[in-house]
Amino acid sequence: MKTIAILSTAGGAGRTTLTAGLAVLLARRGRPVVAVDFDPQNLLGTLLGLDELPASGIGAAITTDVPWHAHTWRNDDGVLFVPYGDVPLATLPSTSRRLAEEPGWLAGSLASIDLPAQGVVLIDTPRYPSMHGAQALRCADLLLCVTPPEPGALATLVRHLPALRAACDHTLFVLNRLNPAREMQRDAQSMLSAALGHGTAPVIRLHADAALPEAFARGSWFFDDAPYSQASHDFQGLVSSIEQQLVALNEPSRHPGALLK
Ligand SMILES: Nc1ncnc2c1ncn2[C@@H]1O[C@H](COP(=O)(O)OP(=O)(O)OP(=O)(O)O)[C@@H](O)[C@H]1O
Ligand SMILES: [Mg+2]
Repeated sequence: MKTIAILSTAGGAGRTTLTAGLAVLLARRGRPVVAVDFDPQNLLGTLLGLDELPASGIGAAITTDVPWHAHTWRNDDGVLFVPYGDVPLATLPSTSRRLAEEPGWLAGSLASIDLPAQGVVLIDTPRYPSMHGAQALRCADLLLCVTPPEPGALATLVRHLPALRAACDHTLFVLNRLNPAREMQRDAQSMLSAALGHGTAPVIRLHADAALPEAFARGSWFFDDAPYSQASHDFQGLVSSIEQQLVALNEPSRHPGALLK
């Protein structure tokens, strides 16, 4: 079993969309998948097919130690989903305190998930830096770092790059909501490549496509509604890159140099 943390230093970067879409596509490719919502926003379940925000989940367990396993769901594609749940605002300070005192809390909780070797756990997080994000990072075999191609977002990513790289050996960088017609975005791409330096895996690009939120509003997936669109092509490419990393992580000796920092 390998764990992928989906992180970004900007809000609205596409973490939740990517977590849900990747969970579905990896499950369709035959992998046992668990999607964990570790963001108090509690939104991931609605992308995975729930009609409303789930009331109970792993969030309450942080302060109460009440088991969360009974609140998991399985969606139509076979993704096992762990909701965050609806946690009162007043518990936020005690939640943060517990996560600060026990940096391995999430890793300990997820250790009880019984997945075979080819299984994948995907963790959605709030904007980094955050206590929740740091916990997810600690669990991660692979970090998926998502950013919009905007100077402000990239400046925060570059600022946190050393800490992110120190926390996880294997990272894929994803530029999401790309519009290559905009010159500023082309500059932003160059800025990111320069900041990452040589020897880094190529930055993966996902184009902006209004079909993403529209399909979500209809309760479907853009890669089902428009399988030949640029965004669907991009998304399938991202899944293939992740598959390659997962294979290399499981068989490091047969893939020397396959994992790029
Ligand atoms: N490639 C894309 N093209 C067009 N819209 C996109 C794309 N990726 C994500 N979106 C849209 O951007 C919005 C924000 O996405 P999402 O909620 O996944 O981001 P997030 O990083 O999880 O945000 P938050 O900081 O609120 O947790 C959503 O409406 C989503 O449908
Ligand atoms: Mg989100």
